Amino acid sequence: MDKIVINGGKRLCGNVKISGSKNAALPILIATLLTDDKCVIDNVPELEDINTVIKLLKHLGKKIKKEKNTIIITGNGKLQTDAPFNLVSKMRASVLVAGPLLARFKKAEIPLPGGCAIGLRPINIHLDGLVKLGAKHFVSRGNVKIIAKKLKGTQIVLDFPSVGATENLLMAATVIDGKTIIKNAAMEPEITDLVNFLVKMGADIKGIGSKILEIKGVKKLGGCEYKTIPDRIETGTFIIASSITSGDVKILGAFPEHNESLIEKIKLAGIKISMTNKVLRIKGSKKIKPVDVETQVYPGFATDLQPLWMALMSIASGESIITETIFENRFQTVAEFIKMGANIKINSAPACRSGVKGDSAIVKGVKNLTGTKVVASDLRAAAALILAGLSAKGRTEIIGLEYLDRGYENIVKKLKKLGADIKRVIDN
Ligand code: EPZ
Repeated sequence: MDKIVINGGKRLCGNVKISGSKNAALPILIATLLTDDKCVIDNVPELEDINTVIKLLKHLGKKIKKEKNTIIITGNGKLQTDAPFNLVSKMRASVLVAGPLLARFKKAEIPLPGGCAIGLRPINIHLDGLVKLGAKHFVSRGNVKIIAKKLKGTQIVLDFPSVGATENLLMAATVIDGKTIIKNAAMEPEITDLVNFLVKMGADIKGIGSKILEIKGVKKLGGCEYKTIPDRIETGTFIIASSITSGDVKILGAFPEHNESLIEKIKLAGIKISMTNKVLRIKGSKKIKPVDVETQVYPGFATDLQPLWMALMSIASGESIITETIFENRFQTVAEFIKMGANIKINSAPACRSGVKGDSAIVKGVKNLTGTKVVASDLRAAAALILAGLSAKGRTEIIGLEYLDRGYENIVKKLKKLGADIKRVIDN
């Protein structure tokens, strides 16, 4: 097993280039199931999750060629309609194959994805929407079988603007009869990127970037070439990395309009952030003001940046309150921050039907964190612990890197180039 070793206290300075968006590339690669024509997807980050989705598409019958950050996908008309357990359990985004396969072949079989460290992660909103389009589903031995005699467009109002459910239903609606209206749709930039890709394939979609998506089914979708957006969570990671080390980092290739909520909070914390000639510059300051945050769906404060914000607030000059409203168990990193000397208390919210949401963490900033051995419980927890280690006095060791490799392309190399004393070693 590997571990990351950091000797903290170094200011990050220099330039860093943002990779393509993991959460845009995953649904876009899966959307190629909607055509047998050749699709070329560029700016795809080299990550474990991308390798998993490539294995899944190959299992289903796609031919895949990978040239660094470019993926070339072709098909021959024959596709399997079952996603294997080992891949779905590794990456829950695999459930997104259900919409395309059902729409084209009137059947799909996917293992229930199961939960993860941050929550139960049910797929009821996905399935309820597919039923509204005319499908039937039944669970047997942990597998969901979804079948349909006829699928027809209709209005679907999502209980919650689920990113994955919006993507699944959107993809299904592009090639079935009739018009589908998805209300209370998720508006994350990754959804807009998927819509733009589907439109380039020939889909008829209106309401791009809004909470109401109108999709008119077409007979067939074709292949196309497409470049994904930059990763807004990686951008947020480097904005906070510069802030927490009082650094001076220039971020290249980001779309700051995808991070407006974080940028507002960074300015309130007294950190200088500016955008000139497409370069985002963050000049950290010694004194970090405490700023409350409540995670919300886009364009609110991203839940994926919540643990990283907590790392920053752990050394702020006062008390801040961080409330998590999207996932019911996303405070796992608190215990690890406390091991590093942070002063954090959790206020649990009253339970609601779909799991406890709305827990708050009260963070009293301390002068500095102290390096120690910590364990990452999920992808963004791993990133948050790295940021805490960069700022802490002394040596921090982080294990649980299998999560990190799922979502960050060369993060150790990028941080080292910015002056961090960080390395990845075998943990014997
Ligand atoms: C996507 O997950 C992202 N993953 C997550 O990023 C991100 O945290 C999340 O959106 C929220 O922004 C990818 O895009 C691959 P949701 P997704 O469906 O689609 C509940 C990362 O670190 N819900 O919007 O699974 C669910 O339990 C990952 O890159 C239902 O109850 O998120 C959660 O509480 C982590 N029923 C909330 O909605 C459903 O059918 C948000 O989930 C679906 C979701």
